[in-house]
Amino acid sequence: MIQLKSEADIEEMRQAGRIVARVFRDIESSVVVGISTKKLDDLIKEGVEKQGGLCAFLGYRSYPANSCISINEEVVHGIPSENIIVEDGDIVSIDIGVKLSDYFADAAITVSVGNIDPKRKKLMDTTKKALALGIKEARVGNYLSDISYAIQQYAESKGFSVVRDFAGHGIGKELHEEPEIPNFGKRGSGIKLKKGMVFAIEPMVNAGTWQVEIASDGWTVLTKDRQLSAHFEHTVAILDDGPEILTRI
Ligand code: MF3
Ligand code: CO
Repeated sequence: MIQLKSEADIEEMRQAGRIVARVFRDIESSVVVGISTKKLDDLIKEGVEKQGGLCAFLGYRSYPANSCISINEEVVHGIPSENIIVEDGDIVSIDIGVKLSDYFADAAITVSVGNIDPKRKKLMDTTKKALALGIKEARVGNYLSDISYAIQQYAESKGFSVVRDFAGHGIGKELHEEPEIPNFGKRGSGIKLKKGMVFAIEPMVNAGTWQVEIASDGWTVLTKDRQLSAHFEHTVAILDDGPEILTRI
């Protein structure tokens, strides 16, 4: 069942979303050559807790860290580690979920480090724009798959592919609620969007094949062809006057 949120619920989710947004703002400049992903994860925990929130991923289905940090051919769910060091030219996806007084917010960004190859930059920019175009479709009266369609069309028009094995999701008092929001599909199918739905929309866009596999750690999702992947995510509320991005300052 899809849980519709009241204005009071959404206000709580705004608070959670603001924490996520501020942590991204504060840590972005720390994503530099030589830093370990564990150190970034520590900074994320510190930033979230300083604002009174909890890191929502830690312990979720036994996930062992505060955030997910996925570099280059890693798509999502990379586990931060002292042994993973950010290098020049990397693209680094950081995914943060926060729980604040019973409500969740979830967002991700991909940032580049140092001298970035134009093809990598194009992949990141395309993924970010695909998210923006998907969010634009998150309005009362549209269909769920209008979001999916917008994301897929744009990503593929730039010569990239969208991951099919992982999707966006409803979010609220649970990190993952119904519905599932695929990043591909045709226009005009699935449920009709209503006021009070809140979605985590999260395109994962690959430079090569859309196919992925799980690494031996049981979590890290990798592109099958080891080409690059980028990920952006926002938590978005559907209101009468259109989508409101909750994970933005
Ligand atoms: N944003 C990710 C998602 O919605 C969160 C990862 S969940 C965890 O799938 F298991 F890694 F915690
Ligand atoms: Co998510």
